[in-house]
Amino acid sequence: MPIAFITGASKGIGLATARQMLEAGSRVINFSRSPSPAGGIENHAVDLSKSDAESAVTALVDALLPGSDRETITLVHNAAKLQNDTADNLSAASFENIFRINVLGPHILNQALIPRMGPGSSILYIGSTLSEKAVPNSYSYVTTKHAMIGQMRATCQDLAGTGIHTACICPGFTDTEMLREHVDHDAGVLEAVSGMSAFGRLITPDEIASTITFCAGNPVVNGAIIHANLGQVER
Ligand SMILES: NC(=O)c1ccc[n+]([C@@H]2O[C@H](COP(=O)([O-])OP(=O)(O)OC[C@H]3O[C@@H](n4cnc5c(N)ncnc54)[C@H](OP(=O)(O)O)[C@@H]3O)[C@@H](O)[C@H]2O)c1
Repeated sequence: MPIAFITGASKGIGLATARQMLEAGSRVINFSRSPSPAGGIENHAVDLSKSDAESAVTALVDALLPGSDRETITLVHNAAKLQNDTADNLSAASFENIFRINVLGPHILNQALIPRMGPGSSILYIGSTLSEKAVPNSYSYVTTKHAMIGQMRATCQDLAGTGIHTACICPGFTDTEMLREHVDHDAGVLEAVSGMSAFGRLITPDEIASTITFCAGNPVVNGAIIHANLGQVER
């Protein structure tokens, strides 16, 4: 049975992806601080911001995948933190916290899971439109989301010949708690943000989940940045 490891499947895009992968017949394992509300998902409490995340993840993977067989694994690096900060007000401690979740977390999971992955496996990074451009007041998010593109490209090069493929899916404005919290649940701002796509609406988490599951099943996307933003309108 294929196995999906998803970080942050307790809500939003990760939850929608977990549901789709479960429906498609995968064993689905969620690493996040709170459990997923969906039945059938194996939840394990992991806080990627903590300094013990590496030992926690390694111990969990050893327990979840006993034996040395390589499995068909889809690893989705989805958990992330978005906060308002700038080049001149972000403390080193706060930057380290974001870096641990958005960049080091994926690296820790790669280290634990790549030795368990057989051909047909995939490592999917969830970036953002801010993986390739910047806006003001999002310094740590922009920086770490750009870093994920580098991680994905280096993963592609380092795993050449293994039958494991990778991609970075970059969503636009998607209707999740992260976005709603970011705009302080302001209906007017949400409407303005909806108007920033060529379709005049927010993306649903299921639309991004479908893009992720497509990438998992199609190694031809190896090394690719997949834009999933409904056509973001630049002003
Ligand atoms: N929504 C958008 O408009 C948008 C746009 C572009 C890119 N994205 C990207 O899409 C991905 C999913 O975002 P979303 O909108 O679905 O966000 P969300 O609804 O806020 O979900 C974020 C997930 O990350 C987990 N998480 C946060 N901090 C964590 C930590 N310290 N340790 C472990 N897990 C942690 C959360 O679980 P717990 O709280 O249970 O720990 C939650 O399941 C992110 O990578 C985000 O950057 C989103």
